[in-house]
Amino acid sequence: MNVLITGGTGFIGKALVAQLLSRGDRVTVYTRNTGLAGDESLSYVNRLEDIPATAAYDAFINLAGESIAEGRWSDARKQLLLSSRVDTTNALYALAERLQRPPAVLVSASAIGYYGSQDDTPLAENAATVEGFSHRLCVDWEAAARAFEALGTRVCVIRLGVVLGRGGGAFEQLRKSVQFGVATWLGSGQQWLSWVHRDDVLRAISFLMDNDDQAGAFNLTAPEPVTNRGFSEALAAHKRVIAGLPVPGLVMRLALGEMADELLLNGQRVIPQRLQQAGFSFAFPSVDQAVSALLAD
Ligand SMILES: NC(=O)c1ccc[n+]([C@@H]2O[C@H](COP(=O)([O-])OP(=O)(O)OC[C@H]3O[C@@H](n4cnc5c(N)ncnc54)[C@H](OP(=O)(O)O)[C@@H]3O)[C@@H](O)[C@H]2O)c1
Repeated sequence: MNVLITGGTGFIGKALVAQLLSRGDRVTVYTRNTGLAGDESLSYVNRLEDIPATAAYDAFINLAGESIAEGRWSDARKQLLLSSRVDTTNALYALAERLQRPPAVLVSASAIGYYGSQDDTPLAENAATVEGFSHRLCVDWEAAARAFEALGTRVCVIRLGVVLGRGGGAFEQLRKSVQFGVATWLGSGQQWLSWVHRDDVLRAISFLMDNDDQAGAFNLTAPEPVTNRGFSEALAAHKRVIAGLPVPGLVMRLALGEMADELLLNGQRVIPQRLQQAGFSFAFPSVDQAVSALLAD
């Protein structure tokens, strides 16, 4: 396949590019970084306007966005979080509209923040949502992606959970919860953590690219979400850490403001219903398997 990817230099994107190249795809990465050198199968573009109308892409993959977890959510930062996603998706759309042949498929990132802060209820793709900044961001981001449907492009939106992998992302932070020999959890520890191993994210993106009968929104989380405390305990079991301590929510609210409430102190218990119904199987369904693999690497 000939693939155009945004966010291809990031934590998920870099690993995805390597996987696509290894299966024989040709990849173009749209990036703000002007210093990257490509080769025959991997090229970089800094301006979508430079892509000619005759370019023929089978798939667009859209992962770009300013980091959600860094910095307090000031109004200016919220605007950047939104515009870096929606404007990039709109720019991709403008390219697709200009191309003589729009891409057959778009796989576009969203997040489980779509559902807002929730309680214990398991959430499939059609679950009711709760208002909040994350919800509004995901609604606008997904709507920009769904606009491609008017061009005849098959659109798959992936509502990503907390992606765990080596060399970045949440796992590097979460593993600190046991680093002083004491397992800790955030606030009550009862909030849900819907996680997914990065390898399963890459496999699911390929699955959605390749299966022409799949479209719409897909939760991309492992089938067995855990509570925050359950995750710390799984980590502790592998690190032979025994004691447990909560990190008080008030401390986190003072440090992180609204972000603490939406990302850390509240969660969502998300179920990947549509992927499982489509026959996708997870290589890392349980947190024990994922943690064991990640700590062994
Ligand atoms: N990792 C997770 O746990 C997780 C969970 C839920 C959702 N997601 C979503 O999945 C996507 C990929 O996640 P990731 O962890 O791989 O992200 P990441 O490592 O932060 O990479 C995101 C990429 O987006 C581009 N980018 C960053 N700021 C930008 C801006 N202001 N304007 C335009 N482009 C910008 C960057 O590409 P260049 O520097 O090359 O331009 C960067 O490589 C993100 O949109 C993220 O919100 C991730």
